[in-house]
Amino acid sequence: MAKIKVLVNGAKGKMGSESVAAVLKEADLELVGQTDIGDDLAKAIQDTKAEVVVDFTHPDSAIKNTKTILQNKSHAVVGTTGLSPNNLSEIKKLCSKNKVNCIVAPNFAIGAILMMKFAKDAAHYLPQVEIIELHHDQKADAPSGTAIKTAELILDDRRNVKRPAVKSSETIKCVRGGKIGDIHIHSVRLQGLVAHQEVIFGGVGQTLKIRHDSISRASFMPGLVMAIRKVKKVKGLVYGLENLL
Ligand SMILES: NC(=O)c1ccc[n+]([C@@H]2O[C@H](COP(=O)([O-])OP(=O)(O)OC[C@H]3O[C@@H](n4cnc5c(N)ncnc54)[C@H](O)[C@@H]3O)[C@@H](O)[C@H]2O)c1
Repeated sequence: MAKIKVLVNGAKGKMGSESVAAVLKEADLELVGQTDIGDDLAKAIQDTKAEVVVDFTHPDSAIKNTKTILQNKSHAVVGTTGLSPNNLSEIKKLCSKNKVNCIVAPNFAIGAILMMKFAKDAAHYLPQVEIIELHHDQKADAPSGTAIKTAELILDDRRNVKRPAVKSSETIKCVRGGKIGDIHIHSVRLQGLVAHQEVIFGGVGQTLKIRHDSISRASFMPGLVMAIRKVKKVKGLVYGLENLL
């Protein structure tokens, strides 16, 4: 069977270099290219005839890179965070125009997908919820794509339940974190961390914590490899690895 030709963009970075190593380990995948900042991505796709391009670059370049990939008729597997809902609509249109597919996954770790699923389920019973996400100190964006996705999943499912608004003042600005809907999100950035998230629910006389820890970037690779294998067969845009399981 022919191998899937894969190019990794952002190959010199933490996630990109881990992805290069992961692709090299798989017998059905062929690493045909590695690009990073300053390289001509469009030319690299054309020269290598890459069927799938993996992007782990920077939130500021996520949409530009994704457009380049799709316009050059490659399927895209995008792990870079920072894509807005408008960006996702644009990507959907480009997929259909260029007859290619795109998987955007804010988190490729199966444990994180389960954390989001359990959080969504728990919110039916304990609607008061806050999210603390903790990442290494080099992370370029806040909050994390996983925190945003978790809040969106909970809000989608829990549309009719609103946390009662309580009047409270902040003596330090933003000390209660940012908000998506009524869900507060707090971002911690420290050396020594990789990618972690705690979803805390409050009920009368009780709390529930659901926590996931990626303690090494190897945690993202099985999900990434699955996405590379599946991207040719999905239809247009898929947002979230949970839709592939
Ligand atoms: N989806 C997931 O499971 C997951 C997991 C971890 C990190 N991330 C995200 O992946 C992205 C990369 O994270 P990282 O920790 O590897 O960052 P990093 O800074 O270690 O690596 C980024 C790499 O991309 C390169 N780059 C920057 N702009 C570029 C451009 N326009 N074109 C080509 N290359 C470019 C940089 O030179 C660097 O080598 C971030 O958005 C991060 O939040 C996603």
